[in-house]
Amino acid sequence: MADWVIVVDDDTSNLKMAGHILSRANMRVTALKSGQALLNYVKENGYPDLVLLDINMPEMDGFETLTKFRENADPDNETPVIFLTADENEESETKGLSLGAVDFIKKPFVPEVLTIRVRHIIDLNHLQKNLAKEVKKKTEENEKQFTRFVQSLANAIDAKDRYTSGHSQRVANYAVMIAERMGKDDDYLQVIYYAGLLHDVGKIRIPEGVINKPGKLTDDEFDSIRIHSVSGFHILRDIHNDERIAYGAKYHHERYDGTGYPNGLEGDNIPEIARIIAVADAYDAMASERSYRKVLPQAVIREEISNGKGSQFDPAIADIMLQIIDEDPSYEHRQQEAKTHSVLVVDDDKIVLRDVKRVLKDFEGLNVFDAVNTQEALNILSAESVDLILLDLIMPEKDGFEFFGDIRKEYDMPVILMTGDRSIETIEKINELHIDDYLTKPLNEAITCETVHGILHRKDSGV
Ligand SMILES: [Fe+2]
Repeated sequence: MADWVIVVDDDTSNLKMAGHILSRANMRVTALKSGQALLNYVKENGYPDLVLLDINMPEMDGFETLTKFRENADPDNETPVIFLTADENEESETKGLSLGAVDFIKKPFVPEVLTIRVRHIIDLNHLQKNLAKEVKKKTEENEKQFTRFVQSLANAIDAKDRYTSGHSQRVANYAVMIAERMGKDDDYLQVIYYAGLLHDVGKIRIPEGVINKPGKLTDDEFDSIRIHSVSGFHILRDIHNDERIAYGAKYHHERYDGTGYPNGLEGDNIPEIARIIAVADAYDAMASERSYRKVLPQAVIREEISNGKGSQFDPAIADIMLQIIDEDPSYEHRQQEAKTHSVLVVDDDKIVLRDVKRVLKDFEGLNVFDAVNTQEALNILSAESVDLILLDLIMPEKDGFEFFGDIRKEYDMPVILMTGDRSIETIEKINELHIDDYLTKPLNEAITCETVHGILHRKDSGV
């Protein structure tokens, strides 16, 4: 499409001249006789690729026109403006440039100079816009990737503790809710989201036996739990250039009255991000299941948070949490019941079907369907909602690869291939077809469970 230039000048002969020169250079030209006409015109017809604007005009001069033109325009999509001037005046050049004009062109026009300058500035402006778009796209992609990485890490931390599934994600969500009510900007919300997800990352250093110990902890064991805040700080220092994320981990067990750990900081000396996470963390600990108890009733949590004001919690932040509780009459903000899943196992060998069912029988909340051939499998798929398919590779009527193709035409649930064939060709084909994973026969119980768990967990968390 031809580039579009608006020329604004009270002198008709100048308008004609500019129109003539630029049209010859294959540009589309609109000629207007006053600043006000320009302002009205762009409101109706949108913004051109460039504006040529006369400085000396009656009523509204070029400077005033440019100021008003910029006020109404989209700051991310600025139209370049070149001033037209009859005299060499340093003062007016300075004024024009400081108002955001990109160049000056002297009248009367030299056709080549006018064409080249206009073309050059339009091209440069297009290039800049494309570059800005590209940078924005890349930044968004990077942020998304970092978020996925942080969520995966948070899931890995939570998986260490049998009873804290989803804890980090919920703490992150509650922390964001609190920060929003404190009027924090988007940048802060992003940082506190990451800090919430990663506040317990130091648990990686605690032995699983201690984390999941059902009875009372010894002093040494309790110490090893306490170091998670410091370990987390050192792990997170290099993960992001915003140090508040690392502070969230280090100070989330400090108490407002100065009796917390690791440093016994008091009141506002505790970084704000950690004071918010402390409230979100305590709330979720009570609003989710533990090895020794169910989710606590909402009224009990309200009481605890209220009692902790000024001792455990920053009172202003605790008040916001109380407000969130009071606005949640149906108690939505708590650990939801574990989701149940359905798995379909397809294998022509009934012994394999029996073995898989035995392996998965202790898997909590898992429904297992089985099918001895592809037709049976299709019947189940059309009647039931299936979250995952375990599919045999070698079957009499159709091999697993071909049947996988049939499934993908209609369904998008993950598929695990089961095969006795460990050849590199088969493994390459599995990767090529983007089959989610594979298990080798004879199936190993622990590996089968971990694979099924990993894939279902990933599906649930949307990572
Ligand atoms: Fe913690």
